[in-house]
Amino acid sequence: MLKNKEIILGVTGGIAAYKAAELLREMTRREANVHVVMTQHAQQFVSPLTFQTLSGNPVLSEMFRLFMGSKIGHVTLADIANLTVIAPATANILGKIANGVADDLLTTMVMAMKVPVLFAPSMNVNMWESSFVQNNVERLKAYGYQFIGPAEGDLACGSEGRGRLADIAEIIEKIEDIFTKKDLQGQRILVTAGPTLEPVDPVRYITNRSTGKMGFALAKMACRRGAMVTLITGPNYLSLPRSDIPQIVVHSAREMREAVREQYDDCHIIIMAAAVADFRPQDTRGGKIKKRENGTYALELEKNPDILKELGENKGDHILVGFAAETSELMENAEAKLKEKNLDLIIANDVTQPGAGFGVDTNIVKILDTRGRARKLPLMTKEDVADIILDQVVKLVKKKEKGLPWPRNW
Ligand code: C5P
Repeated sequence: MLKNKEIILGVTGGIAAYKAAELLREMTRREANVHVVMTQHAQQFVSPLTFQTLSGNPVLSEMFRLFMGSKIGHVTLADIANLTVIAPATANILGKIANGVADDLLTTMVMAMKVPVLFAPSMNVNMWESSFVQNNVERLKAYGYQFIGPAEGDLACGSEGRGRLADIAEIIEKIEDIFTKKDLQGQRILVTAGPTLEPVDPVRYITNRSTGKMGFALAKMACRRGAMVTLITGPNYLSLPRSDIPQIVVHSAREMREAVREQYDDCHIIIMAAAVADFRPQDTRGGKIKKRENGTYALELEKNPDILKELGENKGDHILVGFAAETSELMENAEAKLKEKNLDLIIANDVTQPGAGFGVDTNIVKILDTRGRARKLPLMTKEDVADIILDQVVKLVKKKEKGLPWPRNW
């Protein structure tokens, strides 16, 4: 998404200026071409050499010297840029831009710019909460400028509260979001992720190898594309760099079923990426099962509800997408599930293939639709897989909006 994008990174004079180097690294890792513009104060915190080395471009700060010695002027750079990110943004820069002051290269450039400008503020909590800053932020938002953070936590000045620079991952996510076409705007999507845990006794459970990565990638990409996403997930160790995705954490399949049912009427699209346990212990013991010296143990299992199948029986005009994690007869099993569960799409993945399935950041899948078409994807990141699945979902949404036959009868 950021590949070959021209991005101006404005660095202003706050203690978080050192974090801008990490932000720059993350942007260049994604193959953006970054031009750093520093204010005079920023150079008291970090040397321009750091940014020059990391970006591979000259660091700009002086307005008039620049015009004499370089072809790139503030207007030229403002013209070629796809986005400006000001991180950290001090109270001072917010105040200047909100009030039309253009007394250095960065402020002048922002004024000459038609592309999106993103501020990542960082300052003392009392400064952030002051009416001066808050009024300036409101004014900037009304002009169409965008904001990420500040976050809450320990501040460099020794106090605690809102004022920390947003996490670098969140700033990157916001930048990706700005560049993403909002083709799922207005859609409410429910995504399930992760494993379920089926208790055996108070200390033990049975589960599976799912980590939730595929579902989390789907939730993130759908949200980036403008959907309102709710994520229902089994226990996991993942974090999402977005605060706008409500997460409901459940444990057992039955808990997941309840959570899904509660959300079902309010959403248009359900993507069940969760690896719901098919079976659970018939009796959950009240106390810990004791170790015996000899003998075997038998665990009686009973079937869990098939959540997706139940949704398919009561489909209405929902779009239903399922996953089929298989170890053999991939296509046959996936096709059978597509029909049996009354789905619109099924994502088949052979979890025995290296780089596919549980726990890894990549996947190898085939996407099957109700017309018998199968799209085979090579090894790619789960985020890229998520995007391609969502492309298919967008097509289904358009078809539905046009009133084409829906849902298909088997
Ligand atoms: O039948 P199988 O478990 O392979 O089906 C996989 C699909 O069905 C996945 O989308 C999974 O989330 C969903 N599923 C479910 N409830 C179950 C088992 C699977 O919703 N009990």
